Amino acid sequence: MTAARSRRLRVFITGASSGIGAALAREYAARGAVLGLLGRRTDALRALPFSGDHHLYTVDVTDHAALAAAAADFIAREGGADVVIASAGVSAGTLTERPDDLVDFARIFAINVTATVATFAPFVETMKRDTGPRRLVAIGSVAGIRGMKGAGAYCASKSAVHTYAESLRLELQPHGIRVVTIAPGYIDTPMTRQNRFPMPFLMPVDRFAAAAARAIDAGTSYRVIPWPMGVVAKLLRLLPNVLFDALFAHAPTKSGKVAP
Ligand SMILES: NC(=O)c1ccc[n+]([C@@H]2O[C@H](COP(=O)([O-])OP(=O)(O)OC[C@H]3O[C@@H](n4cnc5c(N)ncnc54)[C@H](OP(=O)(O)O)[C@@H]3O)[C@@H](O)[C@H]2O)c1
Repeated sequence: MTAARSRRLRVFITGASSGIGAALAREYAARGAVLGLLGRRTDALRALPFSGDHHLYTVDVTDHAALAAAAADFIAREGGADVVIASAGVSAGTLTERPDDLVDFARIFAINVTATVATFAPFVETMKRDTGPRRLVAIGSVAGIRGMKGAGAYCASKSAVHTYAESLRLELQPHGIRVVTIAPGYIDTPMTRQNRFPMPFLMPVDRFAAAAARAIDAGTSYRVIPWPMGVVAKLLRLLPNVLFDALFAHAPTKSGKVAP
């Protein structure tokens, strides 16, 4: 994808202040891309360890007007974006019978699902007029493949990301825009460092970012990273409910609240 362009790649990333978003920012910075980096924590964005061209946006992705303004600023400065990555996301345990958890449920959906739509929306018309490889990248999760105990909100939000991105893929394919869904397995980031259960195939975040960038280059429609987790995910999807229920009857229940 880089070799095909004479000008620098323009990449806009939400959730760039930490974990996967920050690693993707480092990956694209190393390729000489000009970056739009968005998160709520200005200090964390400023502390990203690379030089080069980037524009920082301190924005909460649930503030759709501010998100659109950040996108408009990036488009005005750079003439558009070649790659837009919606990586901002939160994870927490929720239980349907706990009255307070309805608020967490709504917040997880607002950040993980609605904000993914709000991230892509301001770029679509400009991308349609552009030429060359164009990518909208949704960060889903292996958690979106089957429901897990105590994780109803997170699992449902990531399922929604997968199916939303699939709809968008069909809508935008006549315009030459590829919609790429990346479903991470367990990646070593601040999000997973809170987990108190075994995490199979845990992957260092920089290796994840390199693999994700290759899938984005290729315009792959859907990729689970790391690949062994992709095999597990496929098997889980095929498992009949009666076997799935028996297998996961004693799995730990996800806990933890959404950070304010
Ligand atoms: N790590 C994994 O194993 C794993 C597995 C599957 C899927 N994922 C997904 O990958 C994505 C990134 O996760 P991560 O592991 O990198 O987690 P992380 O290290 O906790 O980073 C989350 C990022 O999202 C941003 N964010 C959260 N709420 C936001 C809001 N309201 N407005 C703007 N930015 C917001 C945070 O920025 P600020 O705090 O600065 O706002 C931070 O940059 C998420 O969508 C997550 O669900 C991760």
